[in-house]
Amino acid sequence: MLSVSERTLKLSCLVLLTFITTSTVLLMRYSRTEKVPQHYLPSTAVFLAEVIKVITCVCVLYIEEGYDVEEASATLYHGITDWNETFKLIIPSAMYTLQNNLLFIALSNLDAPTYQVTYQLKILTTAIFSVMLLGRKLKTHQWVSLVLLMIGVALVQIPNDSSKSETHESAKKRGSLFLGLMSVFIASFSSGFAGVYFERLVKFGSHGGGSVPRLSIRNIQMGIFGVLFGAIAMLYSDYYSIRQGGMLQGYNLITWSIIALQAFGGLVIAVTIKYADNILKGFSTSFSIILSSLCSYFLLNDLDLSNNFILGSFLVICATFFYGCKFNYPEKEEVLQQKGMELNWGDAR
Ligand code: C5P
Repeated sequence: MLSVSERTLKLSCLVLLTFITTSTVLLMRYSRTEKVPQHYLPSTAVFLAEVIKVITCVCVLYIEEGYDVEEASATLYHGITDWNETFKLIIPSAMYTLQNNLLFIALSNLDAPTYQVTYQLKILTTAIFSVMLLGRKLKTHQWVSLVLLMIGVALVQIPNDSSKSETHESAKKRGSLFLGLMSVFIASFSSGFAGVYFERLVKFGSHGGGSVPRLSIRNIQMGIFGVLFGAIAMLYSDYYSIRQGGMLQGYNLITWSIIALQAFGGLVIAVTIKYADNILKGFSTSFSIILSSLCSYFLLNDLDLSNNFILGSFLVICATFFYGCKFNYPEKEEVLQQKGMELNWGDAR
């Protein structure tokens, strides 16, 4: 049974996440399509967001240790040099770096709502990996809500007036649909796997109920590889441009806002994964589809608001509430599920 403060934390994370996701997507889309003499290099933004996350987590650790530099340094040292644990974060970190870079490609080629809707595939991948890696059993109404959600997001996607021909400008704006969609598909797979893998590490530790390293340490362990992989990706894709124009070429206030939102958003996601449900996290971003679609329509002039969109949005909201509903399943089932999780974790060692 969750305490009131745990419930408040869970709900606050989900609400915060909805707003962060919405603003990040809109700003990313705007920044990739705005007419400026020079665009910033996305790989540098991903790298800097990773650096900011590590610095923030070190500060959090310092606060957790009662502002004691020695204690904090010792905890940090032990956390990082626990190589067995640290190396476990290589996989999600590499996947998140790839995913974060792919999402910039996606948003350079898809309008914000299309991107958001297709990226909801991550809810399905998360559910499937939760079942596979955590032994989680979804209740019937939760599977039903997943299907409802998929129908809702697909509906949002279908334009009302299909006879309306696409203007040259909008066709150009659409960019390479295929490249954008492929990026989203790979990112969805990565999001599902990395999220569940991280959840396993922060909720169950590595010894099936033994000690679980605290979240700030886990984030620092992951952040170290995030910075490393981010640097490799940046040099691999943009080495010559950086040599010519510097790392911060094309940066403006919007770029820095995106970096800050990505860093802060990543940390909120980590807290959400730890204290809320990983799948529910996906649903919170479904709400952001509706918000970002409305903003896209009113601010970016990027979307046709259709009846399908309204019906789809309604389904998404219903699915979200339905998923979170507590039906009176027998308690025995809950216990068995919990045991199943521990058993699977123990077996995996
Ligand atoms: O779309 P999705 O929910 O998978 O996005 C996860 C995001 O959260 C990624 O940008 C990832 O870098 C970030 N993250 C993080 N720290 C964690 C877990 C995720 O920064 N511990």
